[in-house]
Amino acid sequence: MIMAVLQAIKSRYSCRSYLPKEIEKEKIEHLLEAARLAPSAKNLQDWRFVIVTDKEKKRKLAEAANNQTFLENAGAVIVACSISDYVMRCGQPAGIIDVAIALEHICLAATELGLATCWIGSFYPEKVRPVVGIPADIAIVELLAIGYPADKPRIPSREPLEKIACFENWQFVD
Ligand SMILES: Cc1cc2nc3c(=O)[nH]c(=O)nc-3n(C[C@H](O)[C@H](O)[C@H](O)COP(=O)(O)O)c2cc1C
Repeated sequence: MIMAVLQAIKSRYSCRSYLPKEIEKEKIEHLLEAARLAPSAKNLQDWRFVIVTDKEKKRKLAEAANNQTFLENAGAVIVACSISDYVMRCGQPAGIIDVAIALEHICLAATELGLATCWIGSFYPEKVRPVVGIPADIAIVELLAIGYPADKPRIPSREPLEKIACFENWQFVD
């Protein structure tokens, strides 16, 4: 079934319970294609993804991620890295933004395929590095768990629109 983008956005949630089921190779390739097509500053495409499906490696990544043991059951854990230290004119580092966009492309494409995901920022990069052999000068931006969900989507808790957006001038009071 093809979902409209907004439907995928509405259906995505952070899944912390996965069925111990492999993700088909074509589906992984589909997700990586969604990442490959993401926009990036100056079209640098300064992302690198290491896809981990090996059980023992996933266990070690779970340990490196502050013992978030649900990573072990995820079909795949993506170790998402940036290879550039390019800072945009606005003063913001491009690499982490570029990687983040590509990862969210993966999340939405995964949702469309009936898979679930969870961003993982709570990890120790120096513990992740040796698990998949990431060189010392490469920034590990984020981990992403992907798999077949063993739980059900939750209704997201979000601020109302008027609290986060206004027109023409800054009108926020807090
Ligand atoms: C950059 C980032 C890092 C996150 N790190 C973790 C994490 O380490 N562990 C975890 O369980 N969830 C993590 N999350 C998931 C958030 O807790 C979740 O997105 C948020 O609570 C909203 O819930 P939802 O994704 O289900 O809508 C992270 C999300 C983002 C975007």
